[in-house]
Amino acid sequence: MNFNYLTGNFGIEVSAKELADMDQSTGVTLQNLWHEHELLVVRDMDLDTRAFVNFCSLFGELQKNYFFFQGHSEDYPQVAKIIKEAGEKKNTGGIWHHDQGYYSNPVKGIALYGIDIPPRGGDTLFTSSTLAYDSLSTTMQQVVKSLNVIHTTELMLKKQPLTKLMEGSDGDESGIERALKLMPLESAIHPAVCKNPVTGKPFLYLNRTTTSQFEGMTREESMGLLNYLFQHIEKPEFNCRVQWRPGTLVIWNNHQVLHYAVNDYNRRRELHRVHFSAEQPVKYL
Ligand SMILES: [Fe+2]
Repeated sequence: MNFNYLTGNFGIEVSAKELADMDQSTGVTLQNLWHEHELLVVRDMDLDTRAFVNFCSLFGELQKNYFFFQGHSEDYPQVAKIIKEAGEKKNTGGIWHHDQGYYSNPVKGIALYGIDIPPRGGDTLFTSSTLAYDSLSTTMQQVVKSLNVIHTTELMLKKQPLTKLMEGSDGDESGIERALKLMPLESAIHPAVCKNPVTGKPFLYLNRTTTSQFEGMTREESMGLLNYLFQHIEKPEFNCRVQWRPGTLVIWNNHQVLHYAVNDYNRRRELHRVHFSAEQPVKYL
C-alpha cells in the first residue's frame, strides 16, 4: 500500500484510492500501519454512517460515547456528531490532552471523519509521546518508568484547564458544557510509562489536562517534573498537524498520541466521531 509520511517522524497519509479493492488483507495492512505509525489519515473517503462504522470497526470494538452524547442516533449510538456552528466561539479540546485518561480503561483509538469543513482553519494537532519518551536521557527514562500517575477529571472540572478546554463565553450552554456539568469525579492511576502491546514501543502516558500528580507524591512535589514532561511531550519535533477536508478520516492511538483542537475558524464544521477498544494502558517494564 502506498502512503505518505506526514512529518519526519510521525503520522502517515493514505489515499482512499489505495482501498478501492479492499479485502481482508487490506484491513490487516491498515491495522498494522495504525499500530506502527500511531496516526493514520485517509483522504477522500466517501462514507455514509454505516460505512464509517464498518470501516472503523476494523480497528477495534466501538464504544458508546458518553461525553459527546448529543449526536447519538438510535441506529448508530456509537457515532457522535461534533458540530461547531458558524459564529460560535466556543471550542472543545483546545489544550493538549488524551481523552479518558481518568478511566481505568480509556479508549485506545479515536476516529474522526470530516463532513462539513471550513475552507481554512480548524486543524487538529497531534503529538507522539512515544517520540517524546524515546528522546529522554536513559537516566530520566529510568526515573519516569518507576512512577505512576494519577489522572482525574477534577482538573478539567474545577481548575484552570477548563477555561482553556472551553474557550469563549457566548450564547447558550452547549452540549459539551452540559456534559462537563454532569460529569462525575473520576480518577485512575496509570503507569507513567506504558507500552503499545502490539509493537512493544514505550510511551509517556501523562498530559497537562488530566494528570494531577505522581502516585505517592503531593501535587506540589510532582509539578516540577510533570511540567517538564508536559512541555517535552508538546515539542514541535513530536507534532503532526492535520488539515481537514470533507472525506478526511483520521484515526489515532489515544494512548500514545495527545491531541489539540485549533480554534482559528468561524464557519460551520461537522465531524463524526467514534472511539474503540477501551483498554487499560500496559506498564512498560
Ligand atoms: Fe479530545
